[in-house]
Amino acid sequence: MDDLRQKYLTAIGDAADETVLEDLRVAAVGKKGEVSLKMRELGKMTPEERQVAGPKLNALKDEINAALAAKKEALADTALDERLKSEWLDVTLPGQPRRQGTIHPVSQVTEEVTAILADMGFSVAEGPQIEDDWFNFDALNIPDHHPARGEMDTFYMHRDEGDNRLPHVLRTHTSPVQIRAMQKHGAPIRVIAPGRVYRADYDQTHTPMFHQVEGLAIDRDISMANLKWVLEEFFSVFFGTSVKTRFRASHFPFTEPSAEVDIQCSWEGGTVKVGEGEGWLEVLGSGMVHPNVIRAGGIDPDDWQGFAFGMGIDRMAMLKYGIPDLRAFFDSDLRWLRHYGFSALSVPTLHGGL
Ligand code: DAH
Repeated sequence: MDDLRQKYLTAIGDAADETVLEDLRVAAVGKKGEVSLKMRELGKMTPEERQVAGPKLNALKDEINAALAAKKEALADTALDERLKSEWLDVTLPGQPRRQGTIHPVSQVTEEVTAILADMGFSVAEGPQIEDDWFNFDALNIPDHHPARGEMDTFYMHRDEGDNRLPHVLRTHTSPVQIRAMQKHGAPIRVIAPGRVYRADYDQTHTPMFHQVEGLAIDRDISMANLKWVLEEFFSVFFGTSVKTRFRASHFPFTEPSAEVDIQCSWEGGTVKVGEGEGWLEVLGSGMVHPNVIRAGGIDPDDWQGFAFGMGIDRMAMLKYGIPDLRAFFDSDLRWLRHYGFSALSVPTLHGGL
C-alpha cells in the first residue's frame, strides 16, 4: 500500500497537464484502477485482516483523490497565469482616433423643412429622379413645344429604338411628384416632396444637380390665403424670426393664378439677413394648382382645388447658414464639409429648436 501511495502521489505531483492527471486518476481510483482492485480484494480477507486493511485503503483512496483535486486546481492556476501573461492589455494606451463624419447642410435643411411641414400635416411623398417626360411636363400642363420645356435645360435620357415607352428625363423639378402623389392617394391630400432635380446649367448660382421641395395641398376649399399662411408660418419657424412675404404675380403652366414669393431681408454690409430690413429676396414659385394638373392626377377639378409651391433647398441652406457659394455644396471638400456640416446627433426637431 505504501508503494502504491508513493507511486501515485509522486506521479500526480509531476503531472504536466490535465490529460496526464486524468490518466493517473483512471489508473489509481478508476473502476479498474489499482486501488479499486485492492479494495475488491477486501472480500477475500478474514474479518481481522479486513479491519486493518479496509480503513487504510479508504484513507489511501481519499488521499489520492485529494491530491488529484489539488493538482487540478494548481494546473488551472498556472494556465490562467500563462494566459494573463500573453493576453495582457495596456489600458493606459491612448485610444485609436476615429474620424467623425458630418451631416451635409442640404440633408440638415431637408430634415428641418420636413419637420416644420410635417407638423402642419404634410406627409412626405417621393418620385423617381429618372422621370417619364409625361410626368415631368405634359401632366403639369406643359405640352410639347411649350417654351418652358426648352427653358428648363432638360437632360434627356437615351431611348432604345423599338422601345415604345415615352422618353425619359432627369426630372427638372419636384413638381411631377404632385401628379404621382395625387394618382396614388387621391383627394384630399397634403404632401411635400423633397429631392434632387437636374438641369444643364453651371455657374456660381447654378449646379446641374440641386434640390427642391415641392408642396401640395388639395381639399374642397383651399385658397391662396391658406398658401400665404403656410409659407409665412414656415419661414418664421425655419429662420427663427417672423418673416414677411411678398407675393408677386407670375406665370407657371401648372398654376393659375401663379405667384413668386419673396421674403423680407436686409442687404447691409454685403450679407443677407432674413426677416429684417426693406429688401426682398425671391425664394419660391407657387400658385393655385391648374385644373388640368388636378385632372392629370386623377382628381376631379370641379370638386377639388388647392395650392402648390416649389422651393430650392440649397438656396434655403445658403440663406440660413450664410454659405456663399452653391458649387461648393457638391465639391466634397472635407474642409468645407467639416466647417459647414452638422453633428450626426443634432437631429432637427421642432421642440429642440431649428
Ligand atoms: N417647378 C417650378 C420650378 O422648378 C417651381 C414651382 C412653381 C413649383 C410653382 C410649384 C408651383 O409647385 O406651384 O421652377
